[in-house]
Formats: sequence, C-alpha cells, structure tokens
Amino acid sequence: MGGTCTAVIGLQWGDEGKGKIVDVLAGGHDAVVRFNGGANAGHSVVVGNERYALHLVPSGILFPGVKAVVGNGVVVDPEVLLEEIDGLEARGVDTSGLIISNRAHVVMPYHKLEDAVREDAAGKGGAAIGTTRRGIGPAYADKAQRLTAVRVGDLLNQEVLRRKVEIACCSKAPIVGDSSAEVDPVKVCERMLGCGRRLGERVQDTTYLLHDMLAEGGRLLFEGANATLLDVDHGTYPFVTASSTTVLGIGAGTGVPDRCIGAVLGVAKAYSTRVGAGPMPTEQDNEIGNWIRERGNEYGTTTGRPRRVGWIDLVALRYAVMINGVTHLCVTLLDVLSGLDELRLCTGYRYRGQVTERFVPDAAELSEVEPIYETMPGFSGEITNVRRFDELPAQAQAYLKRISAFVRAPIGYVSVGPERSQIIAVEPIGVEQEPIA
Ligand code: GDP
Ligand code: IMO
Ligand code: MG
Repeated sequence: MGGTCTAVIGLQWGDEGKGKIVDVLAGGHDAVVRFNGGANAGHSVVVGNERYALHLVPSGILFPGVKAVVGNGVVVDPEVLLEEIDGLEARGVDTSGLIISNRAHVVMPYHKLEDAVREDAAGKGGAAIGTTRRGIGPAYADKAQRLTAVRVGDLLNQEVLRRKVEIACCSKAPIVGDSSAEVDPVKVCERMLGCGRRLGERVQDTTYLLHDMLAEGGRLLFEGANATLLDVDHGTYPFVTASSTTVLGIGAGTGVPDRCIGAVLGVAKAYSTRVGAGPMPTEQDNEIGNWIRERGNEYGTTTGRPRRVGWIDLVALRYAVMINGVTHLCVTLLDVLSGLDELRLCTGYRYRGQVTERFVPDAAELSEVEPIYETMPGFSGEITNVRRFDELPAQAQAYLKRISAFVRAPIGYVSVGPERSQIIAVEPIGVEQEPIA
C-alpha cells in the first residue's frame, strides 16, 4: 500500500467513533465512500450544537463539495436512505453530492421481516445474534444466492424488477408468512419503483466514478461500517454481521484496489463496547460497566439498545491492527475514563490451561477464555479541552503509550469529546483542513 487514499476502520465491535474521525478528515478529501454494511451502521457526527446520526449516507455529506459515495458492497434500504436524505435536506444539508452504486444490493421489505422472523426463532433457543433487524443478513445472503437478488440499478427498470420480485416473493412467503404485504409482488414493486424514481440520477456506476476521480489526483476516504470483530470472516463468528468490515473489504466493495490506500486509520475506544450477543472477554457487567455506560452515553445510535461495556482488550485490538495493517491508531472517548482510580488492560487470555496473546476469532472458543489484566493508575480532571498530547494528564499519556506499544501501531489521533474540534492530532495524516461548519 502507499497510495493517497485513506481508510477509517473500526477495530472493536462497532461504535468506536468512526463517524467522528471521518468528519475530522473529510474536508481534506474529494469523496467519502462507504464500501460495506447498510443501515445497521449508526455514525454520529457532532458539529457545534448539532448532532447528526448517519446510517447509509457517508459522513462526508456535511462538507459541501465532497462527494458522498455509496459503493457496490453496501446493501441499501432505499426507504431508509430517502428518509435520511429528506432529514438532512430539512436541516439545510446539501445532499446533491450523494451518489449510489447501481450495483449495490437492495434491502427489500421482506428482508427486514425475514431478519426478524429468523432472530425470533433463534431467540427461542437462546441463539439469537441480536441483529439490528435491518435486513442486512438476508440481503447479503440473497446477493450470494443470486436468483432473487435486486440491485439498485434494477429499481430503475420496471420489467426487470417485476420479474425478480415475483420470484423473490414466492420464495420468501413460506419464511415470513403468505399474507404479509411484504411478499405481495405488486405492492413491493410499487414501493421500490417509487424509490427508484426518487433516487434517479444519483444511481451511477461508482467504480468508474471513483477511478475517474483518482485519475485526476482525487483523494478518497473510505468509511468503514460495523467493525473488525464483527467481520463475517475475521470476527467472532457467528456473532458477526454479514459483510467484510475490514480494510480488506474496500477493494471488493468499491472496485478500488488496495494499492491506492496510504493511511489506514484504526479507530478504537479507550475501553470496549458491544451491542447484541456474543462473547466479550473483558465485559464488566457491574458497577464499573454501568458507570462507563452512563458517562459515555453508551446506547446504540441505530437501535437505542444499551451497549455492553468492558475494559480495553489489547489481545483483540492487536489482532484487529494486524488484519487491517493499521498505520494510525485513533483512540476515542478517552475523556469518558477520567475519574477512575485505576484502569485495567487485558494483555493475555488464559485458554484451556495455557496463557496466550493470540485472539481466538470463534465465538465458542472465545467464550472459554479468561482475561489476564494489567493495571495502570487512572487519571482525573476535564480533558475535553486538551488539544496537545503532552498536555494530557501523565497517567493518560502512559495509558495511551501502553496501548500503542502492545498493539504495535503509532497513535495518530486521540478524541477527547464528541464534537468535531475535540481532537488531538498526535501524528496527523496531513490532509486536515479547516472544517467547513
Ligand atoms: P461509529 O458507529 O463508530 O461512528 O460510532 P457511534 O457514532 O455509533 O458511537 C460513538 C459515540 O461516541 C457517538 O455518540 C459520538 O458522538 C460519541 N463520541 C465520539 N468520539 C467521542 C469522544 O472522544 N468522547 C466522547 N465523550 N464521545 C465521543
Ligand atoms: P457501526 O457502523 C455496533 C452488530 C449487531 C449484531 C451484529 C449483527 O455503527 O459501528 P446485523 O444487523 O448487522 O446483522 O447485526 O452486529 N452490529 C453493530 N454493532 N455498531 C454497528 O455499526 C453494528 N453493525 C452491526 O448489534 O450484534
Ligand atoms: Mg455506530
């Protein structure tokens, strides 16, 4: 790797503050590009007193002149997307730079129902994943299955859409119930064609669009959704999402080869959170966990669910740094930990009688591990106004240095509050510009 593009990737179980980091860097790029996931993502950006929660629209939308591109690897719920566009426009945000790949797959109404039906059935056996119920898994499954899949470009072609929807509704009816409006082909087609008409000229071949931009010296910023430990291949399977969430997903999800990527920014909270089911070795289901949840406002941006909270897991983090080839670590929500007497960092696992520093990316195996902790002194006081690393409390500096040393990646940025300006650029990538408010 060594190109001029930048990737922003979550290194834990999601909600690391990717939206915030993308927002800090977007102004120095020509396009912000989503390559994976769908409306399961919830990326918050805070500008002054305004808070934006973005699900399908890339976080670069807040910068006029920066294109916001939804790549072919994303699964698009067109109704959610249009609602999001309307919401942004109503708040005065210009969305004319938003472009959607004609080859992105569509999350159809029956996919959301199928997600819920499967989760409810699995839940009876205590095996639910705890999905966001946004239809993500069923949409990607149909993409791989091919016969019934609908792509965004199909929403502009009545005949093609009708044919696909008729077959799809037949195959989905036994799963979601015959009488449901979500498997009535006429109703489904009408809804989806209406969306297609509204999306209209935003639907394009984004692979050529991005390569044309690159040919003219443009810089692209790839905005990861979900996160590394939720990756379908490299995460805590089966408690994962259905897409390639790491830097490795960018090529397939956009058509841009990885040699175009220079900086890989891995975003990690100063502690751990997880939403939904699945093992989390450092989880603190206790007073400490509750204290961090309330201070960090750890409730889901997409579903409002309380997030599970725990100490930072450096074994998992080093694995995520390795998979992504992280060049710059971005540690976020450091301010939340201010006030704790001591901080714990997981630096090893006890697994089947052995001590290991290797992550085990399989849910059944990971649920067996017992974390081994190192303890460091905590820090206190208000750090949200700090803008230089050496002005942080000495204990906070030591904590960050320990994280960086263990995971073997330099710290690029430290985030000390949700707002755009609350950032310490330790080793900046060199494209920061005066943000356009
Ligand atoms: P994403 O999915 O990775 O974009 O993260 P989310 O937006 O879902 O969750 C991160 C939450 O933390 C949001 O509410 C952000 O506004 C907030 N946030 C981001 N960075 C910081 C920070 O450094 N400090 C604090 N206190 N909040 C932050
Ligand atoms: P951002 O981009 C946190 C989790 C869900 C569930 C599992 C599968 O905001 O970081 P899915 O609906 O994708 O089939 O759910 O993955 N999950 C996320 N958790 N942040 C996300 O996105 C997530 N996207 C999916 O909670 O456990
Ligand atoms: Mg989120």
